[in-house]
Amino acid sequence: MPLFAWSDEYYIGNEEIDTQHKKLFDILNRLFDICVSKNDVDSVESVTEELESYTHYHFKFEEQLMRDAEYKDLDKHITYHNYFTNEIKFAKRRQAQYRPDTDNKLVEFLSNWLIQHVTEEDKKYAI
Ligand SMILES: [Fe+2]
Ligand SMILES: [Fe+2]
Repeated sequence: MPLFAWSDEYYIGNEEIDTQHKKLFDILNRLFDICVSKNDVDSVESVTEELESYTHYHFKFEEQLMRDAEYKDLDKHITYHNYFTNEIKFAKRRQAQYRPDTDNKLVEFLSNWLIQHVTEEDKKYAI
């Protein structure tokens, strides 16, 4: 059972960014599924690595778009991105101790943060 389904309200109107957001949500859903099944430490770690590297790619891509568009709130937006990046690092540290029940909550937290970020912050520069 996936954590959540993609919704039209998550579209920000930039096709490439929307595609990247869908992929991020897809990775989070997969991570949630693995955490819930609680029996595959290697998969949890490898999907978290995937989340970390794709998040890095997406954030850099988005920040460059904003830079090119001279978006006025770029610095603030980068601060939000750095917060999320640090939360993933935190998730990795917890996984080193392997506590899947807390991973679970962490994935929910990351997903909720991402939904809010996409619908509130990413939308601001796309409009
Ligand atoms: Fe984004
Ligand atoms: Fe963003």
